[in-house]
Amino acid sequence: MYETRNDLSPDTRTQMVQLLNARLADAIDLRTQLKVAHWNVKGPQFIALHKLFDDIAEDADEYVDLLAERAVQLGGTADGTARQVAERTSLDEYAANGSAEQHVAAVADVLADFGESVRKAISASSDADDQDTADIFTEISRGIDKWLWFVEAHLQAGAWAGTSPREVDVGRHPAH
Ligand SMILES: [Fe+2]
Repeated sequence: MYETRNDLSPDTRTQMVQLLNARLADAIDLRTQLKVAHWNVKGPQFIALHKLFDDIAEDADEYVDLLAERAVQLGGTADGTARQVAERTSLDEYAANGSAEQHVAAVADVLADFGESVRKAISASSDADDQDTADIFTEISRGIDKWLWFVEAHLQAGAWAGTSPREVDVGRHPAH
């Protein structure tokens, strides 16, 4: 940790830097998963989903920068290389490689998982008396809730409706 004139206590700053780096790894992982979905989705809905997944990846890139720069503002180091992310991410690997429905379900799953951990980070940073970090997590959480709506709407009516969350096999747990 670096010394800083920032008035937050060293304990709070240390705790927040760890939390920010944990969610940073997830956000970078999320961004790469959305690009994989953007590249590989196929089917009659191709162009809409191809564009939607890229819009989400673009927002994820902004979340990455917000988290990394907040960690540095608090005197920490932002850890975001591919190797660090692979070691630290809490998200499951992106495994959908089939239908557009599978890609939509896989993207909804990863958005939901990331959204859950970010929402917990709002409370954790608020409890640590760092309202600015809580504000960053709140902004990200609001964005993720919006994107989850955009993606899940594909599964809530029409041809893909009727399956509960996580019932669509996205290939994450192949049968042996
Ligand atoms: Fe592209």
